[in-house]
Amino acid sequence: MYKILKAENIADKIYLMDVEAPRVASHCEPGQFVIVKMDEKGERIPLTICDYDREKGTITIVFQTVGASTEKMAKLKAGDSFQDFVGPLGRPSEMVEEDLEELKKKKIVFVAGGVGTAPVFPQVKWLYAHGIECDVIVGAKNKDLIILEDELRAIAGDNLYITTDDGSYVRKGMGTDVLKDLVNNQGKKYDRCIAIGPLIMMKFVCLLTKELGIPTIVSMNPIMVDGTGMCGACRLQVGDEIKFACVDGPEFDGHLVDFDQAMKRQQTYKTEEGRAMLKLQE
Ligand code: FES
Repeated sequence: MYKILKAENIADKIYLMDVEAPRVASHCEPGQFVIVKMDEKGERIPLTICDYDREKGTITIVFQTVGASTEKMAKLKAGDSFQDFVGPLGRPSEMVEEDLEELKKKKIVFVAGGVGTAPVFPQVKWLYAHGIECDVIVGAKNKDLIILEDELRAIAGDNLYITTDDGSYVRKGMGTDVLKDLVNNQGKKYDRCIAIGPLIMMKFVCLLTKELGIPTIVSMNPIMVDGTGMCGACRLQVGDEIKFACVDGPEFDGHLVDFDQAMKRQQTYKTEEGRAMLKLQE
């Protein structure tokens, strides 16, 4: 059993938990994820790792309630446990395996959307811990959906840019508007963009970065079942190839990902989630 040490509701429908999982914490890296299961009959839920503390043996996860299983998970409190907490799964972020000196020469910008800020956090933390500054754009629908602002501000300082779709906080507009502004009006040049958030957001970031000529990495979070490359549930079209997010990803070249197909698959999943939700209410 994996004990929950802290459980907080950090924004509208967004929850943060610290979970005791020393083995996962001892060798996870930014970009990787875990699959959790609440009980014997529970659905397997893939969640990106938001933070980890190797000494304390804890993993921080952040999730948004999107269906029956996550609604149920949101009710867990400190002291409760997960039956399964499998990980670290997937490949670490590209940066972790790169030559540090080469990486230091690169200008990197993150574009995080909503709960996608959670997987961006460990990457930004990792870069700054290695003496590499980067810009971070965090966008959300409104003020209440901005997460980890203080934590990111403490690391990235003025390199953090916040925006809200409705203008309820800092500035009005999407993450893409901020990126356009930084490149076109503030003379920023980037060698790499890392975009993590809803599929539609990542699609539009990629359309823009293609135009701007900035190589872009996205982190995909499709429905997963086994998380080991066996079931095919998480398959994605990336260029000419079929990839499995759980073993080949979750990060991919955003300019090659077929977002429209991924969105169609997500729709089907939503329908099933809807059915599960109804079952829960029976
Ligand atoms: Fe089954 Fe990826 S979750 S192949």
